[in-house]
Amino acid sequence: MNPLDHLVEPQEYPPPPALAAQAHVAGRAGYASLAAEAEEDHEAYWARLAREFVHWKRPFRKLLGTQNAPHYTWFEDGTLNVSWNCLDRQVAEGRGEKVAIIFEADDGHVTHTTYAQLLAMVCRLANMLKAQGVKKGDRVAIYMPMSVEAVACMQACARIGAIHTVVFGGFSAHSLRDRIADTGAVLVLTADEQMRGGKALSLKGVVDEALALGGCDAVRAVIVYRRTGGQIPWTDRDHWMHELTAAQPERCEPVWVEAEHPLFLLYTSGSTGKPKGVQHSSGGYLVQAAVTMKWTFDMHPQDVFWCTADIGWVTGHSYIAYGPLAIGATQLMFEGVPTWPNAGRFWQMIGRHRVTVFYTAPTAIRSLIKAAEANPQVHPQRYDLQSLRVLGSVGEPINPAAWEWYHRHVGGGRCPIVDTWWQTETGAHMITPLPGATSLVPGSCALPFPGIAAAIVDELGGDVPNGQSGLLVIKKPWPGMIRTIWGDDARYRASYFPAELRGYYLAGDGASRDRETGYFTIGGRIDDVLNVSGHRMGTMEIESALVACTELVAEAAVVGRPDETSGEAICAFVVLKGARPQGEAAAALAAQLRTWVGKEIGPIAKPKDIRFADNLPKTRSGKIMRRLLRSVAKGEAVTQDISTLENPAILHQLFETH
Ligand code: WT7
Repeated sequence: MNPLDHLVEPQEYPPPPALAAQAHVAGRAGYASLAAEAEEDHEAYWARLAREFVHWKRPFRKLLGTQNAPHYTWFEDGTLNVSWNCLDRQVAEGRGEKVAIIFEADDGHVTHTTYAQLLAMVCRLANMLKAQGVKKGDRVAIYMPMSVEAVACMQACARIGAIHTVVFGGFSAHSLRDRIADTGAVLVLTADEQMRGGKALSLKGVVDEALALGGCDAVRAVIVYRRTGGQIPWTDRDHWMHELTAAQPERCEPVWVEAEHPLFLLYTSGSTGKPKGVQHSSGGYLVQAAVTMKWTFDMHPQDVFWCTADIGWVTGHSYIAYGPLAIGATQLMFEGVPTWPNAGRFWQMIGRHRVTVFYTAPTAIRSLIKAAEANPQVHPQRYDLQSLRVLGSVGEPINPAAWEWYHRHVGGGRCPIVDTWWQTETGAHMITPLPGATSLVPGSCALPFPGIAAAIVDELGGDVPNGQSGLLVIKKPWPGMIRTIWGDDARYRASYFPAELRGYYLAGDGASRDRETGYFTIGGRIDDVLNVSGHRMGTMEIESALVACTELVAEAAVVGRPDETSGEAICAFVVLKGARPQGEAAAALAAQLRTWVGKEIGPIAKPKDIRFADNLPKTRSGKIMRRLLRSVAKGEAVTQDISTLENPAILHQLFETH
């Protein structure tokens, strides 16, 4: 039976008929026929889409390769160039004068870049990279602000087969150093400064600091995009991007690469202290980024797409740097922050640029709800949002109240919301409604994208019946999937394909399916990974950062607690080397440690609560009782059995926040 058959309950929102009539995937029947096609022949289904959505220089004959499972391959004997697909092909098909990127700067200044212009820019940059000796397979670190130049740098790497690793501009010098060192990057592309909320923040200065920390011996040069013209330190290894590209020709032959050639590495948090370099392919990744771009957002040629993510996260890779360009779409890109000059900025920009498809994170929505409640001037109903057709959500579960507000006040009650579940590792959307095909249930990401074998199982990989929760897994390989963790195949296998799970991909989320509709609801992480404002943070990473403050900290344990705006908040329990501080001294030390963590990882990792104790609650065998700490962090009465606790007396200390 089609899982959509039961969808008749009143709290559901069926697809708007006019939208469904024109949709790429239209109605239940449209979804069902694709799902059936994939069910019948998984590989042939993806191969059909791979041929439809991507131009291959040498057509593939191989589909899924399992020889080296779970290091799967897709379309292995095919060759392609990702930037050729995103740019040259669009120009060749008559979209040279079409706007690829509308860019709005922090101060409101707008520029339009056509496909032809973007292609010329990418070619110049690619020629510059070649002139710097960058070769196919070399790694290039990108630490840049939201800008057309940043997208062009990513595309320029793809053009010559170099592997980029974009580091979010909010990460600290330490985090940047770790990523440059782990990838062995030969170049760093950065900017003098970035503009956010009217303030200039240094980027080049952070790169200098990162390189000074050592371990980045492969770096030959730092190339600087001039964004602000602010004063920055300069050394012999630095070059201005505009000076190096000025003399470069506007044409650059693409390097045709094998489908499995890595397109990029992107670091994400896991359950150990060390972030994982998620390695993505060129062919399979592009196929899934393009297909999901078109179907999940039901993109048509006239659409203006806006994804508010930063290019430093996977959302900014798949739905800014690659997906929209791969289907020849027009997109809006924004440099600044949603609350500056006021919290109406997003709504104002949607009206100004006639945005039709808007993709953002629940955290942003929740904070804009708060802002609109406090100040009616920035309520979306004060703005012209008539152009919107489809809304999207990503990064964390969207609570039904925020969903309803988004639907009613932003979407005017007429725009479907696609709640897209996926991960850095999956490359593209995995479980999501399709706007013209799926009835929506607030809080649920609905059904697997056609061709994605998502399921819920128990610890031994056995299917869990609908209505019960379990582990979210993907039973069959998919084209956009992670290929390995850079330099650590063993960790890849252990993290994602644990022996007990019958070869299924373990997502790390808990989930359940509706008894009747089979709709998925994501519960949250089952490992020591937190989701703070849609940003993934490992508790061990923050613990390592805290204990790295060797002068002060003896021991630290970090847990998450629910937070109304950010989803989860970071709560740290710290044992100091000296005596446990009280009152103002404690507050001052907490502030000092927050700053420290900000310097070690980045401001997003700063704990919201810090509590000091003489020691941590441990079992007699020395294990920290994290479950108990989670209850304490929530402010709940402790219901766990504390008879196994070695040191029950410290419990009361743990409740004091600083
Ligand atoms: C984790 C992945 C997906 C790109 C941005 C985050 C959570 C993501 C949803 C959603 C509920 C979600 C999961 C997942 N997550 N989207 N629609 N509903 N939870 O990528 O940093 O790799 O984080 O984000 O916990 O495992 P990421």
